[in-house]
Amino acid sequence: MRELKAPKGVSEYFPPRSQYFEFVRETLIESAKISGYQLMELPVFEDTELFRRGVGESTDVVSKEMYTFEDRGGRSITLRPEGTAGVMRSVIEHNLDKLTLPLKVWYSGAYFRAERPQAGRYRQFYQVGIEAIGLNDPEIDFEVIAVADRAFKKLGLKSYRLDITSLGDAKSRASHRRDLVAYISKLNLDEATIKKAELNPLRLFDDKRAEVQEAMAKAPLLLDYLSQESEVNFQRVQELLRGAKIDFTINPRMVRGLDYYTGTTFEFVSDKLGAQSGIGGGGRYDGLMAELGGSDLSGIGFGLGVDRILLACEAEGIFDSSINKPQLDLFLIALSAQEKGFVSNLVNELRNSGISCDMAYGDRALKGAMKSADKSGAKFNAVIGSDEIKSGLVAIKDMDSGESKEVRITALSNEFKTN
Ligand code: HAM
Repeated sequence: MRELKAPKGVSEYFPPRSQYFEFVRETLIESAKISGYQLMELPVFEDTELFRRGVGESTDVVSKEMYTFEDRGGRSITLRPEGTAGVMRSVIEHNLDKLTLPLKVWYSGAYFRAERPQAGRYRQFYQVGIEAIGLNDPEIDFEVIAVADRAFKKLGLKSYRLDITSLGDAKSRASHRRDLVAYISKLNLDEATIKKAELNPLRLFDDKRAEVQEAMAKAPLLLDYLSQESEVNFQRVQELLRGAKIDFTINPRMVRGLDYYTGTTFEFVSDKLGAQSGIGGGGRYDGLMAELGGSDLSGIGFGLGVDRILLACEAEGIFDSSINKPQLDLFLIALSAQEKGFVSNLVNELRNSGISCDMAYGDRALKGAMKSADKSGAKFNAVIGSDEIKSGLVAIKDMDSGESKEVRITALSNEFKTN
């Protein structure tokens, strides 16, 4: 029989490492929630057209990396490569843009890109994202960046940096595009690159080939073409970041991998991850909603890569001490088969009252059961035999200090609630 394996290039999390994945994801989500963002739970597959129009044909994501297939009804379906387009589709479809604005939502889940797998680059990966829709205001740009930065600081990350730039408004981009296209037309480029540049000339700034980078060294930069309004907005975002002591570098050559960006755009980069160092990024997307058939509302958001943030935390040694704490309060062991039913009921009742506990299953001898208690990472353990059942008293042992304390069995749940 053929051995069954996970598909190539996917990320998977299982115990014990999955607790760190969960901790990272929950910390990112918490930062969004305390800033007033509400959950949006969306399908992992959408009409292919959504991404073609939303993310853009010039991007690698759309041109090379989408998981697209025909469903049984002959519709073209794509596994979501990112979250923003789906959020916009849902906002338009359910008229959420008629609610009080800005609409602030967060989401978390799996995303799919058929990239060449390598460390930190997967074909199924996880993001936590936020979108603030319906407000074009530097204050909200600052808020979005601060939500990500707060989460990274809360995790204890230190070796990361924030790159920002502005892609300006439509006016800024139009005058820059004219000059950039003229500049590019004088370069000696291959067919495919010329095609790419026709779709989006900014893409050439992102080309990894040394000869293209060299050719683009003197290309006009969008930052020099900002309209007065875009310039004022961008300055204000910087002022707010400085005020909040969020360090940043202006990177006028930064090109995000998706086509919808306008105005403030940003990327967080870890110094510990080698080639796949982008731990999160985002920006404003002022024409996206209208492009997808909705009202002409602006928005800004980010996507944070949970997989890479976990790798960055591990590289910075964050889990060596801080969250390596036990997940269970109590581990119970029946001294013999006779007490098993009693222990089983007790564990069930303790769980009903919210105490996290587990027990030794199977017919293992006490020594084996003790090993399970150790492995469980519980804070306390207790052995229950016929004496304990008769007296109604049990000794709970602190697994760290080794100290024991006698507690009434009926008072166990109170003991842990107050602990
Ligand atoms: P993105 O830059 O394409 O933006 O992805 C955001 C983050 O997802 C990246 O910084 C990276 O950490 C992670 N990521 C992307 N691809 C992979 C991969 N193949 N393997 C592992 N991690 C990956 C977006 O997706 C936008 N929707 C963000 C956004 C929201 N912009 C505005 N609102």
